[in-house]
Amino acid sequence: RSCPEPAPSYALAGDPPEPDPRAVLEPDKDGGWRVVSERVTVAVSRHGAVEVATPGGVVLRRELPPRWWEPVDGGGPARWAQRAEVAADARFFGLGGRASGPRLRDGVYRLWNTDPRGRFGPGDDPLYITMPVQLVVADAGTHLAFYDNSWVGRVILKEGEEGAGSGHDRPGTSELRMDGGPLRCWVLLGTPARVLHGWTALTGLPALPPSWALGPQHARWGFGGADEVRRIAAGYRERGLPLSALHLDIDHYDGHRVFTVDRRRFPDLPGLAKELRAEGVRLVSIVDPAVKAEPGNETYDSGAAAGAFVRDARGDDVRGEVWPGECVYPDFTDPAVREWWGSLYEERLAQGFSGVWHDMNEPVSFAPFGDMTLPLSARHALDGRGGDHREAHNVYGLTMGMAGYEGLRRLRPDERPFLFSRSGWAGMQRYGGTWSGDVETGWPGLRASLSLVLGLGLCGVPYSGPDVGGFTGNPSPELFLRWYQLGAYLPLFRTHAAIEAGRREPWEFGDEVLGHARTALLERERLGPYFMTLAQLARLTGAPYARPVWWGAPEDRALRDCEDAFLLGDSLLVAPVLEAGTERRAVRLPRGRWYDTATGTAYEGPGQVLLDAPRSRIPVLAR
Ligand code: GLC
Repeated sequence: RSCPEPAPSYALAGDPPEPDPRAVLEPDKDGGWRVVSERVTVAVSRHGAVEVATPGGVVLRRELPPRWWEPVDGGGPARWAQRAEVAADARFFGLGGRASGPRLRDGVYRLWNTDPRGRFGPGDDPLYITMPVQLVVADAGTHLAFYDNSWVGRVILKEGEEGAGSGHDRPGTSELRMDGGPLRCWVLLGTPARVLHGWTALTGLPALPPSWALGPQHARWGFGGADEVRRIAAGYRERGLPLSALHLDIDHYDGHRVFTVDRRRFPDLPGLAKELRAEGVRLVSIVDPAVKAEPGNETYDSGAAAGAFVRDARGDDVRGEVWPGECVYPDFTDPAVREWWGSLYEERLAQGFSGVWHDMNEPVSFAPFGDMTLPLSARHALDGRGGDHREAHNVYGLTMGMAGYEGLRRLRPDERPFLFSRSGWAGMQRYGGTWSGDVETGWPGLRASLSLVLGLGLCGVPYSGPDVGGFTGNPSPELFLRWYQLGAYLPLFRTHAAIEAGRREPWEFGDEVLGHARTALLERERLGPYFMTLAQLARLTGAPYARPVWWGAPEDRALRDCEDAFLLGDSLLVAPVLEAGTERRAVRLPRGRWYDTATGTAYEGPGQVLLDAPRSRIPVLAR
């Protein structure tokens, strides 16, 4: 009765792939069926259990029969749960951006994009990007499981236990509980590289950033005005520090209204953009989705005339509270609204901006307690099907990305759009990247920012990076430097901080830090072609730029548990300093010969080595 419609799928990039014509369907024991193809065997039992096995017959995932709860009154969606078993030695990764990873320990992971109220550390979950996508790595093989359902839900993970030769292993389990929507599951298997390739073939190739977006960028909430922006650009220039972009936050808007400019502080923004551009510095603009509900505000008037805003069951616009005050929210799940919104970016381009930074699109409505978002009963178009916020919430940021990306493509067909977004869902890589959001300043925040980049990369989103230095408060010079040294090797390399936080310019922490930050910046510049190659490879193959060290050797268990280093492409291994007072650290090497790029010393992997990590640099090895 409640069999859900298969469309729309916001994750898939187009029509699902054609079934393999060579796959054979055979009756199995006890009245079940078996699908045998070249790379995978799927056994479906009479009771609805599904086993996914390699051609050699090794079971990678066993989905037990799903359980359903029909609502008592017969109306509304059915809740359902599905439990899957994986190998006892398996490790879980993914589920979007999780601060506690990259290896996901036992626990409950909510599927509900959430603003953690202005700051987060490793213990905070969920965050801005959640996805029902998990990558499972075990001795027997790697697979990715994706449940194509955007409803609110949660995943309960429990790693397995090996019976030490007794033959009594306890499998790992992953239980998905959804409040509604369809049970549609995709499982991809193969090497990690093959799995990610398949995943991006299914959900879309990552957008290729313009080359300047791979250079160093600087942001701050509260630059003040045009003169301050000039001062910062000059600060970089005069100290011989490369800089490719400056980002303007909500304080450059007129009264925090999206698509406006405070002309008192920025009397001639196009002129400023031109001036900076001549020095090789681009401007990037924040874009928030909420529109101040105020007649006379052009964006509001044109949206209201078009019926663009999310409504409640009575047909009234749903109102919320964001930076400009009382706001309404475009319904990006409506194609006409996406087109309208995309056309508004013309104003941003006319102001001289070269890229956009989507924020607050979980979406956020401030509230003193509870969920800071729209009411669950809010109505959404869901591309013609209609539904409420329980289903639309998690795709709000994704569909905003679609609107912005397609708008920029229409307005500037000859340039690759630069877009990154705080919130999103499976498939968001088609429109751009993301960043860590409001990571708390402190050593735990530094570690969380690496976890986010690696986990998102395994979910198909290869371009991201943290607020270098942390969003809140004041990092110590040492913490700032270590964050800077890590950031220099991540795809999005951007300093940023909150309005009440301390400075983040690299010269604000004394001469020693400035000198070492310059080294990191110049190394990033030198690696420019390498980063551009990684961006192209991500687009061609889905492989993230920053990969867990087990990427090429998932069978190496010690690597699977290593969370304090990463591979940058195939050739570099980066071992950041993530703890205070560290000047030497252990580095676990995958197999092969690795050269310390600072000393030239060669090491043979697999194994662990102790390397110097003086304040001047972090260990980077070349394969
Ligand atoms: C949110 C963003 C942050 C931004 C601030 C003001 O907290 O995550 O990056 O600076 O809003 O726009």
